[in-house]
Amino acid sequence: MKYGKLDRSLLENVRAKVQRGLLPQWAFTDPDVFQAELERIFAKTWNFLGHESEVARPGDYVTRWIARDPVLLVRDAEGKVQAYLNSCTHRGTKLCTADFGNKKAFTCPYHGWTFNLAGELTGIVAGNKVYGKEMDRSQWSLRKIPRVESYQGMIFGSLNEHVEPLETFLGDMKWYFDLMLGRSDHGMEVRGIPQRWIIHTNWKISADNFGGDPYHTAMTHRSTVELGISPKDPMYASYGYQIVLDNGHGINIVTRRKDMNVPPFQGLPQAMWPMFERNLDPVQLDVFRNTMITVGNCFPNLSFVSPMHGTGGPDEPLTSFVNFRVWRPLTPTSIEVTSWLMVDKDAPEAFKEASYLSYVGSFGPAGTLEQDDAEIWTRVAEASQGWMTQDKDVHYNNVLNYLMGLDRVEPDPSWPGPGVAYPTCYLDAISRAFYERWIECLLDDAI
Ligand code: FES
Ligand SMILES: [Fe+2]
Repeated sequence: MKYGKLDRSLLENVRAKVQRGLLPQWAFTDPDVFQAELERIFAKTWNFLGHESEVARPGDYVTRWIARDPVLLVRDAEGKVQAYLNSCTHRGTKLCTADFGNKKAFTCPYHGWTFNLAGELTGIVAGNKVYGKEMDRSQWSLRKIPRVESYQGMIFGSLNEHVEPLETFLGDMKWYFDLMLGRSDHGMEVRGIPQRWIIHTNWKISADNFGGDPYHTAMTHRSTVELGISPKDPMYASYGYQIVLDNGHGINIVTRRKDMNVPPFQGLPQAMWPMFERNLDPVQLDVFRNTMITVGNCFPNLSFVSPMHGTGGPDEPLTSFVNFRVWRPLTPTSIEVTSWLMVDKDAPEAFKEASYLSYVGSFGPAGTLEQDDAEIWTRVAEASQGWMTQDKDVHYNNVLNYLMGLDRVEPDPSWPGPGVAYPTCYLDAISRAFYERWIECLLDDAI
């Protein structure tokens, strides 16, 4: 399909720029780009829906979205996770409006059609009287999301029945998901209720920030260093490795430095360490032992951060947590964030609570770092909607700078894990790979 002026030659021009570390600013906010992203990215790829612990028992459900498609994620009576389009098959009403709960059946508020956990239409008000016996109810089951698969308890759905297997799509990201999500005997659980909020920005701005921009911490989050609730060195997020993975994914591993007095394994309780030895291979164990922070993005819009933050004053110890979030595209300049705090099921209760508090204070909707970021991302979108920045011709020098490290910083072959690892986190390598993947997706099917 062709959208406005977004034809193949224009997109090829963007690709050539992206390969040279330059991004046209209109790419953030252009309405045609947004439509093309919905069609060529979000409708085609894997989208994160939720964690298995959120739908642990039969009848447990959560309501989620794949971009603009509402999804009802349910554990059915047989214990299998099902994902349905959350829209009644009679007149299309959004069937379930609660965020989460437990039910035996879902009854539509419009005319009262009822669907069981298997998605079958089991009840019709005035049933046979109005439709007669001949209407085949099995034709009117809830519509299934075509593909649902999970890895390390993370459930993904795809609207594309021909999408590659989830594990192929995740590729080398699996190795890093193992570190964050598969290190304990019983995996992770979601603590608290996932929070949702809206930011007036574009989804790529936040995905690119989490994926490839530890550079901003020295300025945007400087006050948290001064308050003593982030690691003491303002450049803390530069030390470590930026790792470019396939399919547009990327992760930064900020390593522990002796002078920062950060304990091994991100300060997780020592009683848990033998468990890490059991569940990780020796290379993963060694990487995890020396990790202070992980932050990254799983293409397109599932980001994560596992940092160390304090809830008290400068002398209080920092506590780590694992936060996953989806940047759901609403419009070219607005996103809905859904944010999950995950914690090892096997962790002591005191650590789980400390980890949750550390998360809420920093990356919860009112958290210090979250507020810093949201303000800046809003400003990027705000400043990208005018005549000059939307111009697709070449009247203005209309590209943004993704040049950091290009042709200057070489990969470090001694990195023991998968991916192409560079020996610093102040680098635009992941961002470049993210936008290269993005433009390849847009070019696919372009006329
Ligand atoms: S729209 Fe759901 S029962 Fe009519
Ligand atoms: Fe940030």
